[in-house]
Amino acid sequence: MSNLMAIILAAGKGTRMKSALPKVLHQVGGKPMVQQVLDAAVFAGADKKVVVIGFGAQNVADALAGQAEFVVQTEQLGTGHAVMQARRELTDFDGTVMVLCGDTPLLTGELLAKLYAEHGQAQAAATVLTAGMPDPAGYGRVIRNSAGQVEKIVEQKDASPAELSVCEINTGIYCFAASQLLAALDGLTCNNAQEEYYLTDVIAILNKQGQKVGAVQAADHRETLGINSRLQLAEAESIIRRRKLDNLMENGVTIMDPGSTFIDTQVEIGADTIIYPFTWIEGQSKIGANCLIGPNTRVTNTTVGDETTIHFSYTHDCTVGNHVILGPYVHLRPDTWLKDGVKVGNFVEVKNSIVGEKSKLPHLSYIGDTDMGAGVNIGSGTITVNYDGKHKHRTTIEDDAFIGCNTNLVAPVTVGSGSYVAAGSTITKNVPPGSLGVARARQNNIEGWVEKQRR
Ligand code: UD1
Ligand code: MG
Repeated sequence: MSNLMAIILAAGKGTRMKSALPKVLHQVGGKPMVQQVLDAAVFAGADKKVVVIGFGAQNVADALAGQAEFVVQTEQLGTGHAVMQARRELTDFDGTVMVLCGDTPLLTGELLAKLYAEHGQAQAAATVLTAGMPDPAGYGRVIRNSAGQVEKIVEQKDASPAELSVCEINTGIYCFAASQLLAALDGLTCNNAQEEYYLTDVIAILNKQGQKVGAVQAADHRETLGINSRLQLAEAESIIRRRKLDNLMENGVTIMDPGSTFIDTQVEIGADTIIYPFTWIEGQSKIGANCLIGPNTRVTNTTVGDETTIHFSYTHDCTVGNHVILGPYVHLRPDTWLKDGVKVGNFVEVKNSIVGEKSKLPHLSYIGDTDMGAGVNIGSGTITVNYDGKHKHRTTIEDDAFIGCNTNLVAPVTVGSGSYVAAGSTITKNVPPGSLGVARARQNNIEGWVEKQRR
């Protein structure tokens, strides 16, 4: 067990977001901000994770369920007060406590690992993670003494003009020796502009006690951006997006137009895959090697094999095999599995169905709740009639069946292997293997009919 506990402050409403959703649940890179922070802390070795929740407590706890312990701060009286809520957890612990804010989603685990390592080497009571911000507005300023040591942190609203001109800011991330943090918390007051218990005041208190206070400055200030407004949210989104695209490109993926490509943090893509413009790849998606994805495509929670093409389409919560061609204009809905070599295109919707190897669904069809074998040909306009108004039923189409155009397959029904269904049929009974199913009225031509109408 590591000796690192992370306390993530996530109880604030985030007034400046002007949102009913707790600030830390706003997403950046396809994950709630607080999840990004928790992931970075875990990467740095945090074993015990405590999240302080308050505004929208249940929502935040649900979002992180099973990943951390929670303590509730019923009134949001400041970041110092938030840490006080974890007093019980701190009392039984004699390792290092890393305090983080839930609104810094661009943090990397590597940076936190560096902070933890330097804090340990220096054997400090506290180590502050700082950053040089080109525009420090809104942040707490790091005030150093003539020897260059961190003396205190002053919040923007409490700062003198001289202090406001300091560009080194407090990122809101610190390592503390647990016992010294606990003792210093007792000394916090709310005599300040915001009448809050500031965690930042712990630094001055420890200095007054003669404890060792250190600082680590982040090499890239963008990693430590704190998100307090929608403008900063958009800024963070574009940074994290570019970071992901750069990483993919470095690993052999071609991104034709990074400006119009949106790929969530956790997505994996194989080498030599080409991503065309206006493409979103989201959630738990995994794309193989040598694929062509886009343009104008949204792929969500989808696993895609190698050498597959998806263009002008939307797929979600489904699995697509190798050498599949999808699009243009395909909608793959949840629980669909297209096996290798399948072709689907031109306004086709597939839902909760398995499509066997090399089957073709080329035009204008709805295939729902269907088990389809290999080598099947689905004619244009084929509809599986899966819903009787009360219940959904499955359709089975066995290997090598040929379904003629404009067919209704009224489920539950089976078309046997190698059979044919005549175009325009409404099939309500099973078609045995090797047969022709025909279910339509015979054509009747009335000769001279047009002439008769004229009389
Ligand atoms: C805080 C720091 C500031 C730093 C900045 C970095 C303090 C007093 N100020 O300011 O020095 O530069 O972060 O981004 O610490 N929270 C609670 N309970 C509360 C108040 C806040 O859990 O009572 C949580 C919020 O949900 C948020 C985090 O603490 O995740 C930081 O709060 P926020 O209000 O954003 O602080 P800043 O004003 O950004
Ligand atoms: Mg903040």
